[in-house]
Amino acid sequence: MDQAKIWKGNWTFVLAAAGAAVGLGNIWKFPYLAGESGGGAFVIIYLLCILLLGLPIMIAEIYIGRYGRKSPINSVTKIIADFNLSKFWLVLGWLGALAGLLILSYYSVIAGIAASYIFSSIPASELNPAEYSVQYYSDFKESPLLMIFWHTLFIGITCYVVGKGVVDGIGKAINILMPILFFLVIVLCIYSSVTGEFLKTFTFLFNPDFSKITPGVVITAMGQAFFTLSIGMGSIMAYGAYMPQEQMIGKTVLIVIFLDTLVALLAGFTIFPIVFSNPELSAFVGKGLLFESLPVAFHAMPLGSIFHSIFFILVSIAALSSSVSLIEPFTAWIEEEKIFSRAKGVVFLGFIAWVIGLGTVFSDNIWSDYKLNGLNFFEWTATITDQFMLPLGGLLICLMVGFFIPTLDIEKDLNISKIFENTFKSCLKIIAPLSVLLIFIYALT
Ligand code: TRP
Repeated sequence: MDQAKIWKGNWTFVLAAAGAAVGLGNIWKFPYLAGESGGGAFVIIYLLCILLLGLPIMIAEIYIGRYGRKSPINSVTKIIADFNLSKFWLVLGWLGALAGLLILSYYSVIAGIAASYIFSSIPASELNPAEYSVQYYSDFKESPLLMIFWHTLFIGITCYVVGKGVVDGIGKAINILMPILFFLVIVLCIYSSVTGEFLKTFTFLFNPDFSKITPGVVITAMGQAFFTLSIGMGSIMAYGAYMPQEQMIGKTVLIVIFLDTLVALLAGFTIFPIVFSNPELSAFVGKGLLFESLPVAFHAMPLGSIFHSIFFILVSIAALSSSVSLIEPFTAWIEEEKIFSRAKGVVFLGFIAWVIGLGTVFSDNIWSDYKLNGLNFFEWTATITDQFMLPLGGLLICLMVGFFIPTLDIEKDLNISKIFENTFKSCLKIIAPLSVLLIFIYALT
């Protein structure tokens, strides 16, 4: 691999992986899923999935990438050649490349809405903010042109950053965006815990009502764990290829997972206190939580419109540092194979994701009547990727690293303590693959 494509120092990898991990999954999805699936019960299963499935799979995924030092498809190809494995394993590379485009297609639409919200706090003079907000969001969704505009802008910026390269594009952007992101998260969390209902939020998020745990909740929590950590698709594998050889994978993953979980919880502590302090807003409004309820809550608070904009700047930054990781694996492959230059390749892929994304744009307006099994186009894309493609990718990663290739390097790396190493191995070889399999079997029957 060309040395110019390895990030210098340990921080860029940590920030890039944390940037990939922290995104709409933490700020938009986690709070609304927790709201819909009974708060504490969901949170506990989610945390378990992060530890038992997320941690070992992320370590294994980085390992494959760093071993191969190429795009995920070619790293897997190299492993197949080096260890004489069946060509079947290529599924892992291609499944991920495809999943990346599918996720980016809808991710960009939602990130686009969030970016547009930077400029649209509810006017201070508005007498009925709740009605205004609901109306605003529904007008927005009913305007395909407006949604396409923001969707295009967001994918365009993503392609621009990725097109500039691994070190000058992604590396530089991440080093600027992530510190701003962490700063904003902390400012907002303090603001809302001071001004809103902190205690109620605490009980809501951590007081589990076990009667609410259903198989559906478990599957959703697992999908969310994969999604929020960006694992199972190759994002983290691609970044693994840019990780310095001497960096400790185990420690690095612990930091990334800690940061991701922290931001999800902080997002919960930013959003629910303000939502709970407004009796007419419910925490259970689902996908609209961020776009309908939150603006109303900000409207009622001191300096609300400024914090409204800061909040959506935060969401947009978090989304951008994630969206670049969705398109990087496939772009790296196109560049390696010399099909196109990096810049042309990313524009080509971005265009495909953009076209698929139109399906998500239309799900809320002109195609809103087209449903299959009760799910619209957007819901299908999100469900297939989160609950099927990512766990399947994760399962293949566990099996490959757990049983088919020597892992001496990882063991050296995890040398922090024997207990950690043994736990890691049992999670990788037994707990993670079995849980994913069981959940698949359940979902299919
Ligand atoms: N983890 C990101 C989020 O929480 C989204 C994301 C980026 C992702 N890269 C990924 C999800 C790869 C799955 C796979 O918003």
